[in-house]
Amino acid sequence: MLHRGYPIEQLASKSHYLEVCYLLLYGELPSPKALEDFECLVTNHTMLHEQMMNFFRGFRRDAHPMAIMVGVVGAMSAFYHDSTDINDEHQREVATIRLIAKMPTIAAMAYKYTIGQPFVYPRNDLDYASNFLRMCFAVPAEDHEVNPILSRAMDRIFTLHADHEQNASTSTVRLAGSSGAHPFAAVAAGVACLWGPSHGGANEACLNMLHEIGSVDRIPEYIEKAKDKSDPFRLMGFGHRVYKNYDPRATVMQQTLREVFEALNVKDPVFETALKLEELALNDDYFKEKKLFPNVDFYSGIILNAIGFPTTMFTALFALARTVGWVAQWNEMISDPAQVIGRPRQLYTGPTERDYVSISQR
Ligand code: CMC
Repeated sequence: MLHRGYPIEQLASKSHYLEVCYLLLYGELPSPKALEDFECLVTNHTMLHEQMMNFFRGFRRDAHPMAIMVGVVGAMSAFYHDSTDINDEHQREVATIRLIAKMPTIAAMAYKYTIGQPFVYPRNDLDYASNFLRMCFAVPAEDHEVNPILSRAMDRIFTLHADHEQNASTSTVRLAGSSGAHPFAAVAAGVACLWGPSHGGANEACLNMLHEIGSVDRIPEYIEKAKDKSDPFRLMGFGHRVYKNYDPRATVMQQTLREVFEALNVKDPVFETALKLEELALNDDYFKEKKLFPNVDFYSGIILNAIGFPTTMFTALFALARTVGWVAQWNEMISDPAQVIGRPRQLYTGPTERDYVSISQR
């Protein structure tokens, strides 16, 4: 897996999220000055229009954070009128920066709203990941210091999710945007698509599955269920449309998980279950034959849980991180002079032409 030629493993270990954002958007790694300017630009656009708070308050308290995000991201097109002319390169750039900068604020506010805590506003003296963690876990009543190990892990998770060729949500953003729709509306379509358990919802589904399995001795039963064609159950976090080998992001994710657990001195039986499940599945003929390996979502949920996020937030974090991929691809599409509206070809299998029959004769 390469971004502009650079292996994801190198980016995850040597770079950081905002530098990867720059790389995806502009095609090259930034000079020190260009990176400083870019970080400054993103940092200075993290606040939301204050009236947008009314949107959050319109949702039920028990709304899923992704439901809130679909609505609020789309609603941005009603607030930032100076960055919606898609034919103006500068406006496209402004919309891009706004999206990357404001997604953490939107995701954190969606979380705060669902747990009934006051919104925490962004802080410009913190890096991207630390600022996000603070907006999620600080409360106005106390000082809050972000643990740098968690912040590094968060940044790495963002980096691993930044882009991934023509996955379902990215193609959705391209298709929605191909009609000339507002970039915020097109990205809201991407958020909606990401939500499903076959895509971004897999990390949430995976952790729920590991909890349901509960203990190592129940793993064989679940492996049998996954292999049974009459049972819709699938091993969540396993298999990938593109990777018919070990997903390189899963390797980095497992390393990050070990680092976080070691640093925090955490022991989580779910991690033991995940390791054993991976071992048993990788040695099973069904999984070997179909080349099903752990994907990026297999371990990410366990780390996010250790950081303190509930499962309902997992896909929202994926959406936050994937936003740069969505807008980079949307920009690439719109700036192509040959760009036309997308229209997938339908393969119609119904009746051929026939005459209408009035209702009294049916
Ligand atoms: N558990 C059991 N069987 C599976 C699994 C699984 N997780 N994944 C695929 N298979 C079987 C599938 O039933 C099929 O069997 P057969 O050839 O007998 O019909 C065979 O393996 C090929 O699978 P497929 O579904 O045709 O492959 P696909 O490329 O269409 O699906 C997938 C990819 C990711 C939707 C699928 O592997 C899956 O549902 N995995 C679980 C959900 C998951 O972890 N999704 C996250 C993907 S990575 C993050 C992202 O990019 O969004």
